[in-house]
Amino acid sequence: TTGANGGTSPHIQQLTEDMIDLTETISIKAEGRLLRENLVTRVQGILNTEWPKEAKIESFGSYASGLGTDDSDLDLVILPALPEQSQELVAPGRYQDLFILKTLFLRYSMKDVEVISGARVPILKFTDHKTGIKVDINYGQYAGLYNTRLIESYVRIDDRMRNFLYVLKAFVKSRGINSPALGSLSSYCYTLMAISYFQTLLVPVLPCLQDPHLIPHNVPNPGPYGRSTLINVAFTDPSRIRPCIPQNSMTLGELLIGFLEYYGSKFDYTKSCVSIRRGGVISRDRGSRLWTRHAFVVEDPFIPDLNVAGARQNMMNIVRHEFQAAVRALRDGRGLNAILTPKQPY
Ligand code: CTP
Ligand code: MG
Repeated sequence: TTGANGGTSPHIQQLTEDMIDLTETISIKAEGRLLRENLVTRVQGILNTEWPKEAKIESFGSYASGLGTDDSDLDLVILPALPEQSQELVAPGRYQDLFILKTLFLRYSMKDVEVISGARVPILKFTDHKTGIKVDINYGQYAGLYNTRLIESYVRIDDRMRNFLYVLKAFVKSRGINSPALGSLSSYCYTLMAISYFQTLLVPVLPCLQDPHLIPHNVPNPGPYGRSTLINVAFTDPSRIRPCIPQNSMTLGELLIGFLEYYGSKFDYTKSCVSIRRGGVISRDRGSRLWTRHAFVVEDPFIPDLNVAGARQNMMNIVRHEFQAAVRALRDGRGLNAILTPKQPY
């Protein structure tokens, strides 16, 4: 239909316009932002009055990175007022605090309050009684805060990123392949896949912000059994880098089809790992030994040995099948809506 940088056919031009319109429709509006802002303030207020230990609340995830929708959840982290470098921060006792917080939020009429302790990072979940907004709170997980800032920085480098991520998340949500609890991939995982694709294009859209020569910035990270280690969250401020030369001139429509084709058929799942920390893709030989049996590896930008993609082989086949079907629909000119038809999660 079109070469990477060649003239764009009418239906790919239409696709680009539809991607911009969809972003406009689903992106969070001033009202939704205000509701969440007030909710953060209320949660901080509850902690200030009721919590014996001085603690600060910060938001991360899609709301904080400016990539939220009106029905996005609110991801919050509790940061105790201790120096960031202190490893005491996430001692085992802290996890018990989530149970104390549970009774606290119940007293403040929050709905569906529960502690999820099976996950890698234990979280407290509740639904705000005033707005119906779903909230996830974790204790001392700095990584989420910094990976949100990293994603935000990549979005700031190129205007196409924001539109692209909104459309990608809408697509995977409607096709039922964005439910990590049911074995598919998280929004965070799809975001890292997109950044990696943008880094590995022949004419890249994005550089790598994690220069190994940067002065390390170490923060604690909760590990298993309440132990914590230090992780390096240093990355270059995007305002201090020069744009990629030559500049990639692909349209949003071309990038979307390119991305779906890349992970649908081109990416070598048996030999490669996605790693935005190392500039896009690395060979499995350079990855962690822990990943040998994993069907798909997406390396976390900050946490060593962590594979963000928890999907098994049969789920990856489904994901690739969905991507390939979407490529066919878009190439045939069936339009953006054709790939957004709702499907129950797999
Ligand atoms: N996160 C993480 N590790 C994961 C999953 C999530 O560190 N395996 C953190 C990331 O900081 C991410 C945040 O949790 O930005 C929220 O994750 P997720 O809900 O997957 O992404 P959102 O961008 O918030 O997507 P949505 O709009 O669907 O809520
Ligand atoms: Mg979220």
